[in-house]
Amino acid sequence: MQSFQLHICGSSELLVDQMVACWRQWSTDDIADHGSFRVALSGGSTPKQLYGQLAQTPGLNWGQTLLAWGDERYVPADHPDSNYRMAREALIDQIEIPADNILPWPTQAQDPAKDAAHYAQTLQSHWGSELPVFDLLLLGVGPDGHTASLFPGTAALNVTDSITTVGSKQGEPRLTLTYPLINASRRVVFLVAGSNKAEIMRQLLTTAPQLPAQRVRSQGSLIWMLDRSAAAQLPLTLDPLTLD
Ligand code: 6PG
Repeated sequence: MQSFQLHICGSSELLVDQMVACWRQWSTDDIADHGSFRVALSGGSTPKQLYGQLAQTPGLNWGQTLLAWGDERYVPADHPDSNYRMAREALIDQIEIPADNILPWPTQAQDPAKDAAHYAQTLQSHWGSELPVFDLLLLGVGPDGHTASLFPGTAALNVTDSITTVGSKQGEPRLTLTYPLINASRRVVFLVAGSNKAEIMRQLLTTAPQLPAQRVRSQGSLIWMLDRSAAAQLPLTLDPLTLD
């Protein structure tokens, strides 16, 4: 397993504050370095908190920031379950960002495989490369160890010849980036909060790799950002006074 950074924050609010500070630094550095900050957003409750805080954060360069998604439910863009809708309501509608900087998954072909392939082409043409590289790829993790829409025991875990595929959550189709694209990212950050994630975090960080989230890599930084509740079962001795 790749070496990783583990940040344990005293609360989910402090976790979000830490991620906002990282976002500000990374976006400033990357825009200065190569003129853009290209991010794959995640669904989930903790990422949603982050988006709300980003929307209130002044001084971020949204004109040079690209927003894509690591996965999407196969529903219309205005459906309550849509990851795009969640980010639009929590962030996009609150900021000044060019429409061309927003790349949601298509979900209207009534054919998940066709829409997944379309998204791959969209990303590849935007980057001008067969293997787009995200500056930051955000992920959550489920209690079963899934991440993005890469669920245990599904065929999506074995896709290596395309950068997108159709995942499955108990038979429900999901659109997802695949490991070849996820693992090409410059930074991968897992955002994990809540006591319901303590057991899976223990498994993910202390047992032999067999769960989807354990197969995630990064070409640069692999970072786990946890709140104290999600870290509660990790075999660490923590001085409560050292937690920020
Ligand atoms: C989604 C995400 C999914 C999510 C995890 C954790 O579409 O919901 O891609 O992978 O990040 O299920 O979600 P919570 O943070 O809400 O537990």
